[in-house]
Amino acid sequence: SDPLRLGIAGLGTVGVGVVRIIRQQAALLEARTGRKITISAVSARTKGRDRGVALDSYAWEDDPVALATRDDVDVFVELMGGEDGPAKDATEAALKAGKHVVTANKAMLAIHGQALAEQAEAKGLALRYEAAVAGGIPVVKTLMEGLAGNEITRVMGVMNGSCNYILTRMENSGATYQEIFAEADGLGYLEADPQLDVGGIDAAHKLAILSAIAFGTRVDFDGIQLEGIERVSIEDIRAAADMGYKIKLLGVAQKTGRGLEQRMQPCLVPDSSPLAQLDGGTNMVVLEGDAVGKIVLRGAGAGEGPTASAVMADICDIARGLRGPVFGQPAVGLVNSTAALTKLP
Ligand code: NDP
Ligand code: HSE
Repeated sequence: SDPLRLGIAGLGTVGVGVVRIIRQQAALLEARTGRKITISAVSARTKGRDRGVALDSYAWEDDPVALATRDDVDVFVELMGGEDGPAKDATEAALKAGKHVVTANKAMLAIHGQALAEQAEAKGLALRYEAAVAGGIPVVKTLMEGLAGNEITRVMGVMNGSCNYILTRMENSGATYQEIFAEADGLGYLEADPQLDVGGIDAAHKLAILSAIAFGTRVDFDGIQLEGIERVSIEDIRAAADMGYKIKLLGVAQKTGRGLEQRMQPCLVPDSSPLAQLDGGTNMVVLEGDAVGKIVLRGAGAGEGPTASAVMADICDIARGLRGPVFGQPAVGLVNSTAALTKLP
């Protein structure tokens, strides 16, 4: 069969990781999907920069929209980031031009996911985003495919590695939030805008996406009760430890007596919980279904290899011919999450 031809916009941590896997694992990818996966063209802000991977054999586009709409591109792979701007423009252009899209961009999906999903589904195109939630952990596929026979009752987890790093370093070292924030920043662990991490916004983007899949609601970032970790003090952490608890930035989406509740905030977690034992930059997602009970997924939520691994899973799905609704059920059928408050049991 014909090769699946990619256009990759964004050659940073994740983009380079994807190029590496495609170059190094070509035979394995073809054996698994039945198709060759090739790169037609790439794009980034700075042309000619040495990115530690050979790019000479691919066409270069300065403009991601031009890349996304090229005739020799079947799948537009968006790895630039940003809620709006070139990521959104190029994703919309790709869908308009009949291209499938793979993205790792949780900010864009949390805010524009509903409209983009409707656009993709209206054309029978795939819009896939495994890497957008919890990096290398295949939580989107677990929810949509592995747990398809369950009514999901709760989704919970630690979904921002940087915050988990800061909180666990405070615990282990006794240093203040300000000291460990500076350390994490110096190590390059924080987003270019650190507020996205410590303000809980990045984690809330991820929770908004998981809620839509789990509960059949429209992606509703604004409906999340949100509080970051900036006000967690070393005294709070010590007091929690004295009582047998750890403080984690925990996301919870669940059905309650009042309906669907979405929260992302620092929480007390008992020492005996697997969530309490999660240290460093790791992520953990706990899924609860009526038939399966509780499933715990743990792994790297960020980094070149883990995130590229998730992007590749989506590319392979498209190579195998999988399409389907973006959030597991048709986007036009997703209910408003405020309405869901009264509709859910
Ligand atoms: P980087 O900042 O490392 O890379 C971004 C890339 O996009 C760079 O190559 C940059 O070009 C390019 N870019 C930015 N703006 C433009 C533009 N206007 N036109 C063309 N190219 C542009 O980001 P990451 O690789 O870390 O992240 C990419 C996406 O993956 C984001 O959505 C992020 O949230 C998501 N993600 C990242 C994870 C991680 O561990 N890093 C984990 C999970 C998701 P140049 O290099 O020339 O500056
Ligand atoms: N800043 C994010 C984190 C990157 O720390 O988890 C991965 O989404």
